Formats: sequence, structure tokens, C-alpha cells
Amino acid sequence: MSDPLLDAILQQGAVPAHVAVIMDGNGRWAQARGLPRPAGHQAGMQAVREAVEGARNSGVKVLTLFAFSQENWQRPPEEIDALMALLEEYIAREREELIAKGVAVQFLGDLDRLVASARAAVDETVRATAGGTELALNICISYGSRAEITRAARMIAEDVAAGRLVPAEVDEAAVARRLYTAPWPDPDLLIRTSGEQRLSNFLLWQLAYAELFVSSVLWPDFTRHDFYEAIVEFQRRDRRFGRVPI
Ligand code: IPE
Ligand code: IPE
Ligand code: MG
Repeated sequence: MSDPLLDAILQQGAVPAHVAVIMDGNGRWAQARGLPRPAGHQAGMQAVREAVEGARNSGVKVLTLFAFSQENWQRPPEEIDALMALLEEYIAREREELIAKGVAVQFLGDLDRLVASARAAVDETVRATAGGTELALNICISYGSRAEITRAARMIAEDVAAGRLVPAEVDEAAVARRLYTAPWPDPDLLIRTSGEQRLSNFLLWQLAYAELFVSSVLWPDFTRHDFYEAIVEFQRRDRRFGRVPI
């Protein structure tokens, strides 16, 4: 726990309530070691634990992790199988630890595409961790932001067609209420590892005013210290939300 950066964060006080992370660079991490890509995904599991600890220690209330995108279904079947097996393993193996730490887990995305055993593990973890009050952990699987927004638009259309909603009532809140992220405030900070400077179809609506932090660290090498670095940088930023500084 004793990390000078963490002390600095807690002293400064203004901690982002919600941090989103694009966990990228597993493949390159493996490649650099002459290992198959799934070895990078395996190594990345430890970094997930580090991010959860970093968030808990610094007082972040919501942590949203991008684990598998809708577009990732286009990867080779061997890699998809390995990733799904690892996710299922992580979800089942960490369950007790997450309960003990007060972490409430949710999974965001098109979960109908998961194989039955992975879906069962997901549902069980959501159920078992529901009472957690320390940290809300959202794991995005089979997630695409455009699909999420399109789904919200379809739900609104259905509500209008059924007479439950009139078009004049369709405002930003009406859209936000129909996104997977409805229960939480928008992310204040987005971290992307591996140096890539793009959103890759992640939380396009919700990140409208997030501060962006790109780390050159490959995801399997990411530690809580790297998480603290992002928070310290966030605390130096001047968020204006389109207004002029006072
Ligand atoms: C992130 O690592 C994990 C997923 C996208 C599932 P990558 O697998 O994208 O690793 P790189 O970007 O190829 O190094
Ligand atoms: C984004 O990473 C998805 C996840 C981290 C789960 P990708 O590696 O799939 O993104 P691109 O292809 O580099 O944009
Ligand atoms: Mg990648």
C-alpha cells in the first residue's frame, strides 16, 4: 500500500469517480517473448487484479474494463477460444476474492454470444457479488459502443411505437438510461495501454468529456503504480466542459 504516488493522490483529494480502461497490448507482449498471443492474454489477468487494487486503494468507485470487443469476434477462432476460456476462468476463480473485497461485478455487452458455460459463470458472478459496496467493476465483453447506442435507439423506437413515450420526450437522459452503463456516472478518465491513441468503439457516448490518458505500458506489465500515475495526471488536468475558466 505504501506508494508515494498513492499518498499524493489521497492528499490531492479529487479522485475520478469512474475510470475506464482499454486493456491493450497483450498480443505484442507475447510476441516480444516469442510466445503465442494467448500467453499474453493469460499474463494480462494479473494486470486486471492490479487495476482493481489500484482503483480500490485510491477511492475510485467505478472501474470499467474493455476485455473483448464486438470486433474481436473477427480474430482467429483459436485466439477467441483461448480468450473466452481465460475470461471464464478469471470470472469463476476470482469470485470469492471479489466478494471479500466488496467488489460488485457487472458484464456489459452482447452476452448472448457467449458460450453457455461462460454465460453461466458471468451470471453467477453478478449474482454472488451484487452486495459489494467498495467498487463497481464493469467488464465489457462482446461490447461495441455503436451497437449499444443502436440498441438504445431501437428501445426508444419500440417505446414510441407502443405509446409509452412521445418523441418530444426523447432527450439525452432518455438515451443514457437505455445504455448498459445507465446505473453509473460517465467515466472521468480513460486509460488506454500499449500506446494506441484511439477509442476502438469503446463508450463513445459516455466518454464525451473524459480525460484521456495513453500509457505506453503493454497491458500484462500494467501495475497499480501505473494506475496511480494516470490518476495523478488526471488531478493535474483542468476540466472545463466547454465553459471558460473561473
Ligand atoms: C488486448 O490485447 C486484449 C484484447 C483485445 C482482447 P490485444 O490482443 O489487442 O494485443 P495487441 O494489441 O495485439 O498487442
Ligand atoms: C480494443 O483493443 C479492444 C479491447 C481492448 C478489448 P483492440 O486491440 O481490439 O483494438 P484495435 O484493433 O487496435 O483498434
Ligand atoms: Mg490490441
